This record gives sequence, structure tokens and C-alpha cells, in this order.
Amino acid sequence: MKGDTLSGKKVILGVSGGIAAYKACLIVRNLVKRGAEVRVIMTPSALEFITPLTLSTLSGNEVIVNIFPETQKNGVNLKTWHIEYATWADLMIIAPATINTIAKISNGFADNALTTVASALRCPLLIAPAADMDMYNNPVNRENLRKLKELLGATIVSGEEGFLASGLSGMGRMADPEKIIDMAELCLSGFKQDLLGRKILVTAGPTFEDIDPVRFIGNRSSGKMGFQIAKAAYLRGAEVTLISGPSSEKAYPEIKLIKVRSASQMKLAVEENLISNDTLIMSAAVADYRPHNVSVKKIKKEDSLSSISLVKTDDILSCLDKVGKTIVGFALETDEELKNAQDKLKRKNLDMIVLNSLNDKNAGFEFDTNKITVIKNTGERKDYPLHSKFITANNILTELNKL
Ligand code: CTP
Repeated sequence: MKGDTLSGKKVILGVSGGIAAYKACLIVRNLVKRGAEVRVIMTPSALEFITPLTLSTLSGNEVIVNIFPETQKNGVNLKTWHIEYATWADLMIIAPATINTIAKISNGFADNALTTVASALRCPLLIAPAADMDMYNNPVNRENLRKLKELLGATIVSGEEGFLASGLSGMGRMADPEKIIDMAELCLSGFKQDLLGRKILVTAGPTFEDIDPVRFIGNRSSGKMGFQIAKAAYLRGAEVTLISGPSSEKAYPEIKLIKVRSASQMKLAVEENLISNDTLIMSAAVADYRPHNVSVKKIKKEDSLSSISLVKTDDILSCLDKVGKTIVGFALETDEELKNAQDKLKRKNLDMIVLNSLNDKNAGFEFDTNKITVIKNTGERKDYPLHSKFITANNILTELNKL
């Protein structure tokens, strides 16, 4: 995609020796697909799981394994390649990072190509640990991860719960490659894990208002914006609950996902969950009207239906008890955009409103990009240019975190 944060970025991928090394192929493939330049360094034990040929073919670059590569032997072409690598990179990802590699880097060892480059880095470091559950939860490993965060400012993409190669099931599986790339994008865009301790409730998607068991009244919202907000908030450290109307978007397993269909179900879910959250971001395109009566049987052609009687749905934002909560609304407009958004901000008693106009090219429903204006209840206003919905989500979170 044009303007992709990853495009043109220089990324070192360090691969250490665990079964999750096979997933490194997907990381390289996706980084390259998105325009990043990738150089891979493997530890000697990573060679037991995957070949350098695979990773050099996918990255289009030589893979370094030996701390003293061939070109440097016998004093020929003797370069300080590790410094060249460390100063070249915009980001280093270590995925999988075994407990051995984590222990070495957190204690200052530089005994192979990967740990040597890691010790000389100037750019952000992203660590995706992978180990069997008892190894992962070992207090020494936990302490080493803490040291990596504290001493090196490393970002850790935590392991996931699930089926492990040992046959056990528990914590320690390497994070999904897609999540690692999302986190890489976050690091490269300069967003920090600044939402730790926050509890954020997000709504997404359309609502469907049933006419009969077959038909409904809906709208064209895909849910993309809300799902990207939930994802970005989670990656930045928040505990996230996502209430979604019908949408085909996927959320990380760590995000509590509540699926609803109609405006009244969404209202109930928001009311129930707002109590345990500090922030609500209401990005759902909630139906304003629903059929007065829902037919229990399919309405037949012979019934000669000529009109459907509608009644207003409750306005969720207007009905809520907002005391002590940060509330963010959305306004999707086609005309008099700024005025309508400012009116909604006041009328619905919001802290902030995110305006997007259907008149902006590549913005709004169904697109992967969006162009927004953020308006705060202080009158402060900020226009953002067209960005991916992920970057747009992060810009919204940065603004709300300043409230
Ligand atoms: N919203 C809501 N409950 C509704 C309708 C909308 O909470 N029944 C929320 C939306 O999630 C959004 C904000 O109100 O955050 C503005 O929604 P929008 O559809 O733009 O505005 P409406 O109030 O529905 O007004 P209109 O459709 O006339 O523009």
C-alpha cells in the first residue's frame, strides 16, 4: 500500500533456535511484501529448525550465521559487519527469541552473530519470546525480559496461550507473525506502550435491524476502524473489550470480543461493560431506526408489503452515565461536516469526536485508509492526512490519551 509505514524500512530479523523458527519465514515474507528491506541473522541452533537458504530466498539478502563470516577469514575484506548492521537498521526483531538468547542479551553476552549485533544496536528492539510453558514462566526468564525492557527499552510481544510443541498446552507459544508485524509497525511509527493500566471499551461495525427471519436493515460499515482501534489499544498496553456488530474482521484472542446484532443489543452490552472500563470509543455505525414489528415468519411476496413502519432506536451515547469516563464518539458526515460533528460533540456530551467525511477519497466505509479530524470538547481541533486505519487508530488513541 502506498504510504505504508513499513515501506523502505530497514529491518534485521534475528532468529534463534526454537520450533517457532519456522514462523520466521512468514515474518520475512510479510515484511518484504510491505516494502521493507530485511536482513536475517540466525543463531547456530536456529539451523536445526530452518535453513538459511529459505530465509535468504525470502529476504533477497545473504543470511548471517557466523560471527566471523567467510568474507572476513584470513584478514580478507575484514569489515566490522556487526557495526554496519547495527547502524543500518531502523528496527531489530528477534523472533523467536529463546530463553537462552534472551538470557544472553539481557546479561550483555555477545557470543554469536545475533547477540553481537543486538549489543551494538541504535534502533528499537522488538522481542518475541517463545518457549515451553515452564521455561517461559521461569522466574529467571521473566526477570531477563524485564531487564530487556528496562535497560534496553525493548518492546516485548508476549507469548500466547495455546498448544505447544511438547504436547502441553499453556503460555509460551510465539505471538502470531501478524501480531509481531503489527507491533513492528507500531515501533517504527514512534507509538509507545503508553496505555498500560487503561481499560478501553470499543464498539465497531454496523447494527442489523431485523424485518423478518430473512431480511434486515443494515448499513455499509465494515467494522475495520473499530477493530483497528481495539488492536492498537491492545498493542499499546490497554485491556480491551470490543463490542462488534456483524463484521468479518478478526480480533486478537487477548481482546474480549462481544458480538451483537442490533442497536438494542449493542446498547445493553455497552451499558454492562462501561462500568468496568475507563474509556469508551464508540466507532460503531449504530442504526437510528428499526422496524416497528419484526415478523416471526418470512414475509411472502403475496403479502404485498408496501412499506415498513420504523421506530427510532435509543441513542446509546446520549443515554449513558458518563461520570468519570472518557467518551469518544464518531461522526461520519456527507455535508456540513465540521458543524455536524461539533453539534454531536455537544449534544452527546462527549470528550472528543472523530470526524470523517464520505467526500474524502479512500476514507470511510470499507476502505483500509481513513482521513480524520479530531475535535475535543475544549474546542481544540486537529486534521490528520489520509493514513492506514491502523495508523489512524493510533492517532486517535494518542489524542484521547492527552485528554
Ligand atoms: N450513536 C449511538 N447510538 C445511536 C446512533 C449513533 O451511540 N443510536 C453514536 C455513534 O456510534 C457515533 C455517534 O453516535 O459515535 C454519532 O453517530 P452518527 O450516526 O454520526 O450520528 P447520529 O446521532 O446517528 O445522527 P445522524 O445519523 O443524524 O447524523
